[in-house]
Amino acid sequence: MAKVERVGGDNLAISDLYFSYNDELPIFQGLNIDVRPGEFLSVLGPSGCGKTTLLNLLSGFYRPDVGSVRLRGEPIQPEDPHLGYVFQASNLFPWLSAVENVEFGLRMTTRMNQEERREKARRFLQLVGLKGFEDYLPTRLSGGMQQRVSLARALVLEPHLLLMDEPFAALDAITRETMNDELLNLWDELGQTVMFITHDIDEAIYLSDRVLVLGRPPGGVFRELKNELPRPRSGPTTRTSELFWQYKKELITDISTVTSQNPRDEAEMAEVSLISKAEG
Ligand SMILES: Nc1ncnc2c1ncn2[C@@H]1O[C@H](COP(=O)(O)OP(=O)(O)O)[C@@H](O)[C@H]1O
Ligand SMILES: [Mg+2]
Repeated sequence: MAKVERVGGDNLAISDLYFSYNDELPIFQGLNIDVRPGEFLSVLGPSGCGKTTLLNLLSGFYRPDVGSVRLRGEPIQPEDPHLGYVFQASNLFPWLSAVENVEFGLRMTTRMNQEERREKARRFLQLVGLKGFEDYLPTRLSGGMQQRVSLARALVLEPHLLLMDEPFAALDAITRETMNDELLNLWDELGQTVMFITHDIDEAIYLSDRVLVLGRPPGGVFRELKNELPRPRSGPTTRTSELFWQYKKELITDISTVTSQNPRDEAEMAEVSLISKAEG
């Protein structure tokens, strides 16, 4: 692995948070979540339960109606250099090479010269296993490799909090498992706090120290699972252990309860409104 400094993590505190989109049904009503420095937290929930909304509130992109989101005790600002994001779509600039994409963020936030930036970007690309692909344009890279570039682009800023919104959801199962292992290695090395959003139960269990299941809006945290699976984790051993299966059974039950709680995801909402229009 390339040489990088351990960055450590910050404490994240979501306190009594209320949020709704334009006076519609509230998404969160008095949400409280504490994430300790260096913790790997997964947030699990069916589509439409507010996972992306939560992440946008954490990134400072949306403001809470009431309550607060604090990183190391201070309100989060979108331009906070201690924040890193990785989204489901890699969002790379198609006209920039892999190394230029990674370097881009450094240009905005640090006072390094061009040569230092390039060197650091190369080091982080190597860290995510892309040595030799520095000059490739995104279109010449596979989906998994593109997500590696976006991971490098987030990590190069040495964030103390890494926000990830279903980053591996579009990848095939085998690539996803490899990426899960690599993410754990990187986290072990760098030590950031991670908030990892997913709708995949296996992924949530495999990665995290704790899993939160979100209920339907404005349900908030439906359940908290403290994950006692030992680390370091490894595919065959961890995924076939008794405890893994026990957690999986519990979470499948939770998700099915949440899903049937109030069947109002976007598709169903649209259906309801079509029916009521037709009837009205
Ligand atoms: N910009 C928006 N304006 C209005 N409603 C939104 C907006 N974004 C999301 N929603 C609604 O908020 C709810 C939660 O959405 P989202 O956070 O995207 O859920 P998830 O990421 O868990 O699938 C959904 O009912 C969705 O339709
Ligand atoms: Mg989402």
